[in-house]
Amino acid sequence: MSETPSKISVKEIYKIFGPDPASVLERVRAGASKSEILNETGHTVGLRDVSLEIRPGETFVIMGLSGSGKSTLIRHFNLLIEPTAGHILVDGHDVVDMGTEELRDLRRHRMSMVFQRFALLPHKTVLENAVYGLKVAGIDKSEAEQRAREQIELVGLGGFENQYPSQLSGGMQQRVGLARALATQSEILLMDEAFSALDPLIRNDMQGQLLELQQTLHKTIVFITHDLDEALRLGDHIAILKDGALSQVGTAEEILMDPADDYVARFVRDVNRSRVITVGSIVSESRALRLSEVNPQSVAAGMEETGQRAIYVVDEDNRPIGAADEQVFTRVDGSSPVRPEHLHEPATVTTDMVIEEMLPTMATRDYPLAVVDHDGRFLGTVSRRDTVSELVPRATEPEAAMAEAGAPGGR
Ligand SMILES: Nc1ncnc2c1ncn2[C@@H]1O[C@H](COP(=O)(O)OP(=O)(O)OP(=O)(O)O)[C@@H](O)[C@H]1O
Ligand SMILES: [Mg+2]
Repeated sequence: MSETPSKISVKEIYKIFGPDPASVLERVRAGASKSEILNETGHTVGLRDVSLEIRPGETFVIMGLSGSGKSTLIRHFNLLIEPTAGHILVDGHDVVDMGTEELRDLRRHRMSMVFQRFALLPHKTVLENAVYGLKVAGIDKSEAEQRAREQIELVGLGGFENQYPSQLSGGMQQRVGLARALATQSEILLMDEAFSALDPLIRNDMQGQLLELQQTLHKTIVFITHDLDEALRLGDHIAILKDGALSQVGTAEEILMDPADDYVARFVRDVNRSRVITVGSIVSESRALRLSEVNPQSVAAGMEETGQRAIYVVDEDNRPIGAADEQVFTRVDGSSPVRPEHLHEPATVTTDMVIEEMLPTMATRDYPLAVVDHDGRFLGTVSRRDTVSELVPRATEPEAAMAEAGAPGGR
């Protein structure tokens, strides 16, 4: 499907907690619910048939209610938890098949894990804490120190190197933990609710810092959160778990525009859609006229056909030069040809703008906006009506939601 191979590839994993997971696996595969399994066998379904592809360099967010299996899932990636069934490939290698040596290498050099509360060593300074992981990884002292200092600087804690964790605020401690994880230079960062204990301002700050770091580091980050705004801000892709199964995987926009079921719809209900939905997904394809084709009949026919208040006019390269409606002809002298200056000025937006960025342009025109690609070529139009209808979330149909719930997606 994708051109670049996945960094992490999760294949049909099941995790059942209890004395004899294998004995209930078949029932779980056959679709028995989490509560049925718990009531009848005393086993807990942690994960059910989860498959995911995580691309190199992306931030992949995992969301879901408490108990939905988020921590269980992420702990499979470095085999802190072994699956009851299924496989987890990291760079194409199955962690389930790894020997002790290979696993140790994976955990020390290739994946760093950051927990909700970074377990800082209380009797070591900020610098010593940041160096710690590197020493464990066998890096020599002077290099370890240099790297650690760089990362401390990066997370904004320069000057605090010799303080102890107890002398720092909770947010600062969290940043030391982040510095420590970054200092290991592993390509993969696993973050389980890493920002959840922070107060909102610091949390916002940390999100910004992570985004900024990520622009230069390009690590593969798996980030668990309860917070939808955080997920939308950080996630290139978002997976939503329910009772151990995936409800949906997609970009923020895909999830917002087309929630797979009621559970997902409830998650996204209160989101500011105008900050997520892009022009590209509300553009209507519509024909444009060449200047030589502009006359009262063609304009009237175009408006009729598209149901819009003006029709765009493009040059030979398909770039908008203006918009035409009846008013245009009041400016034309007799039967002389229509010229660009008779048209309404073109108002253009690009497909990757979110609605919020487009609204100021829309507010000042009473005709549709032209949507163009990065070369300025005409793709279609966006009208106020389409925009407004996208900003109001559609109700999901109960039947559709039921059908989806019975057939979890993600493959
Ligand atoms: N070691 C364990 N033994 C038994 N059951 C477990 C164990 N770890 C997790 N579970 C069960 O697996 C399910 C998923 O738990 P998990 O910790 O992955 O949830 P979570 O989505 O991370 O929740 P939270 O948001 O509260 O951290 C829960 O029903 C939980 O009770
Ligand atoms: Mg958890």
